[in-house]
Amino acid sequence: MDSRTVALIRTTFKAVAAEEGGSEKLASSFYATLFTDYPRVRDFFPAAMDSQRDRLVKAISYTLDRLEEPNKLLPFLAQLGRDHRKYGVEPEHYVAVATSLKTAMRRFADTEMWTDEVDRAWDDGLAIISETMIGAADREETPAIWSGTVVECRSVLRNLVVVRLRLDQPMSYAAGQYLSVQVPSRPRMWRYLSPAVPANADGDIEFHIRGVLGGWVSPAIVGQTRIGEQWLLGSPLGGLGVPRNTKRKMLMVGCGTGIAPLRAQIMSMAQRRINPKVHLFVGGHYPCDLYDLEMLSQLAVANTWLTVTPVVENDENPWWHVDSREPAREVPGMEPRRTGQIGKIVAGFGPWTDHDVQIVGSPSMVQTTKFRLMAAGTETKNIRHDPLF
Ligand SMILES: Cc1cc2nc3c(=O)[nH]c(=O)nc-3n(C[C@H](O)[C@H](O)[C@H](O)COP(=O)(O)OP(=O)(O)OC[C@H]3O[C@@H](n4cnc5c(N)ncnc54)[C@H](O)[C@@H]3O)c2cc1C
Ligand code: HEM
Repeated sequence: MDSRTVALIRTTFKAVAAEEGGSEKLASSFYATLFTDYPRVRDFFPAAMDSQRDRLVKAISYTLDRLEEPNKLLPFLAQLGRDHRKYGVEPEHYVAVATSLKTAMRRFADTEMWTDEVDRAWDDGLAIISETMIGAADREETPAIWSGTVVECRSVLRNLVVVRLRLDQPMSYAAGQYLSVQVPSRPRMWRYLSPAVPANADGDIEFHIRGVLGGWVSPAIVGQTRIGEQWLLGSPLGGLGVPRNTKRKMLMVGCGTGIAPLRAQIMSMAQRRINPKVHLFVGGHYPCDLYDLEMLSQLAVANTWLTVTPVVENDENPWWHVDSREPAREVPGMEPRRTGQIGKIVAGFGPWTDHDVQIVGSPSMVQTTKFRLMAAGTETKNIRHDPLF
């Protein structure tokens, strides 16, 4: 796509989204058009389409923001297309989505702004997005959906469970990737989770799930998961991972369940002969949030290339934490625990110019840590994280 086409799409999109409540209005107009003009498409979507459920529109705006970086965007779209097979999406649905989005855009854009050239630019942009997703889905030979049986559900904190499943057939995801999951108590509500172990021939997989206050799916997983129930899993997504034979040192920063994809990568690296040096910072609000220290300690003791520094915001456990023992400050194989805001602490060790960086955690933690690292001299191109939607 030429740079003028990209510029036209981005300018019109930003002009609409920048208005007060612009993206919400765009999302609701898009869905209203889509469901009115193509009623059969409604069945793909969850019953409750509240304001938080504009994931599709957020994803499209994330995509439009990256039109100028085709070498990053096209693999991302290909993964999405393979994953969208889980919805049973067919090429004609892409036409429905593209047409509805353009109609919604035209409705909110200034009439003067929406010229024939802009209209054609949108057609071109949406066609590239759709063709990339459809093409990748067509070429894919792996299953559209994997199913797995829950074999263990362990509560490790009052709002955090570790769930292990045995898949009906093994999935070859790369350590560090994430995938979307649907649990039986929340039909059609797919959510992304990151496997906490590398792929294996037995099809064993593990997820760490924190119940988000007011969330639809995560509290149901924490409170209602039963041994023997069947979960559905979509295709693997994401580009975190440590390439074999890389000489670049790695900085990994993970908070809460963000440790899952990092630990999967470290476990996978532990099976290799040669590894670059890795410094992992694992963070939580309280010492009790560092629920996986035992495993990380074993990995740090066994692998000399790995340094682990735990970080907490508060030195004491909260009153509601049932274990009244003093939290251990020193853990075998690990650096002493630090107290403070994780981004600030990590940046303080910096500037990390000779490291590739991965940040995993809540969107605000990822943004703040990235900002701190950039302010301390780390180049943006060396920082990776998953999309924040
Ligand atoms: C790439 C990726 C990988 C992920 N991996 C994991 C994982 O391994 N384990 C895990 O537990 N979760 C993970 N998540 C988050 C997960 O996908 C869900 O977003 C989360 O569980 C909330 O879903 P929900 O249905 O309970 O909440 P929703 O009903 O979707 O949202 C309810 C409210 O909670 C807010 N909210 C959503 N997520 C968060 C959050 N993380 N922190 C604070 N507020 C939030 C929403 O903005 C909304 O206001 C991952 C997300 C992404 C994008
Ligand atoms: C135009 C290109 C499209 C892009 C970039 C895109 C991207 C995304 C992304 C990233 C998500 C959120 C994560 C997920 O659950 O997979 C999503 C959700 C979804 N997409 Fe797509 N998608 C596109 C087209 C379509 C089409 C054609 C359909 C079929 C009608 C579709 C149906 C859905 C559904 C049902 C959801 C879940 C919505 C929710 O949970 O609120 N998408 N899309």
